Amino acid sequence: MPTQSTFPQISIEELVELVQTGHSVKTGIDIYTKSNMLLLEKDFLVDRTIILQNLKKKGIEHIPINYDNKGGIWKKNGEEIRIKKPAPEKKTKPAQKVSRRPEKEQAANRLHRNYSDIELRILEINNQKAIAGEKYQNAKDNIKKVIKNLQDSGGEIDFGTVQETVEDLFSFVTEQSSAFSYLTKEIFSYDDYLYNHSINVCAIGTAVARKFSEHFSSVVNSSLNSTPVADLNDTSNDTRQHYTCYYEDELYNISIGLFMHDLGKVMIDKEILNKKGKLSKEEFAEVKKHSAEKGGELLDKNNISNPFIRNITKYHHVKLFETETKCYPPEQDPLTIPPYVKICKLADIYDAMTSKRCYKEAFSPVGVVSDIFHKYAQQDRILQYILHAFVNSIGIYPPGSIVALISGQLVYILDSNGPTVLPITDASGMPLKYKADPLVLNSKSDDRELQMDRRRAPLSPREAYQIIPSYLRNNISAAQA
Ligand SMILES: [Fe+2]
Ligand SMILES: [Fe+2]
Repeated sequence: MPTQSTFPQISIEELVELVQTGHSVKTGIDIYTKSNMLLLEKDFLVDRTIILQNLKKKGIEHIPINYDNKGGIWKKNGEEIRIKKPAPEKKTKPAQKVSRRPEKEQAANRLHRNYSDIELRILEINNQKAIAGEKYQNAKDNIKKVIKNLQDSGGEIDFGTVQETVEDLFSFVTEQSSAFSYLTKEIFSYDDYLYNHSINVCAIGTAVARKFSEHFSSVVNSSLNSTPVADLNDTSNDTRQHYTCYYEDELYNISIGLFMHDLGKVMIDKEILNKKGKLSKEEFAEVKKHSAEKGGELLDKNNISNPFIRNITKYHHVKLFETETKCYPPEQDPLTIPPYVKICKLADIYDAMTSKRCYKEAFSPVGVVSDIFHKYAQQDRILQYILHAFVNSIGIYPPGSIVALISGQLVYILDSNGPTVLPITDASGMPLKYKADPLVLNSKSDDRELQMDRRRAPLSPREAYQIIPSYLRNNISAAQA
């Protein structure tokens, strides 16, 4: 079996230059990372530089071209460009096969090119997932370490590791607000709910807090600055005010608070936390201690005085309107609760409801968002701004997830907007034997069969792995599945 080094090689930089000027390339050989993750399929026609840039990010410096297996580099007009082979003795290809591709093959390639936009999108999604997956795993290793240390030391928080982890999550979520919507429902096991939950609430809450801050600031600014200067009895041009809801350092501390919000649970009996079925009155009283009481004690013990972190930890289960039940501490007036604490509460509910636990199945994200809206939207204006930010940041239909339509057909989400989906099974759930055309789903469509089934949660990776076509599998490892 020839290795990659047997074939002529071209550097990514050279290829980027060629592709930028309208050339295209097909490797004719699958490209893998050192850890055997498939990055580029042998038949994929690369005509966008983003693919090459993604390969470079994955550590690929040179691309081999297997001419014997339909690999090659072509100009816009179809003319082939040959690159040098590494050594004469390693020639693998007879001269007569080096000519321009025959008409028939070019036609087939054009068909392939038609589908390449979809495959490009899938490749992008898989790359995003891979990057997000690495960040997530790193954060998970760190929170495990923090919790173990907390247990072993009887209450000592490794705040340095917390800060380091949140810094990484914070900058990643800032670059891509719905980055973890790719993953939040994909990485899960029964034993490590608290680790996942801490990361999910931090990622979701941080994205929501930023969106809320931007939106709320712009609304206030437009209101402040629309006031005629003359009405303020001031003729200078300096009266324009600029309101910023949360500054960067405040958002960062909010992120830390979100990440640490449930650390008080480490001090609660695990059997109660994992109990299947309804908690007794006494057990619920015990669970309630994790926020204001145990969480507050941990912060005191570790001299953590930042008000954002303290308020989130202590009050993330308070009532958001006067008559809301099962909230604690009960005496807290909803009007005194800052928006970032409300954001934590909603992110907490969303993650808990959409996660699978030992005692319950995951609920559909769409259904959960709809329930949250019904419950909170009419309560007060600030909550409305928060909910607006919430819906715009969490990614209800994360690209790369697989959801069911009312018809029973399963579809792969290509783009959250619309959303645009790729059907992968028929209505009975049998995998399609052909590559279907993408569909844009419209919730207002009369065709009910083509609407999302809001009762069904997206498929778990294990379920998805059984049915998805091979070209969607690249990044779902057997371990995750
Ligand atoms: Fe909590
Ligand atoms: Fe929580």
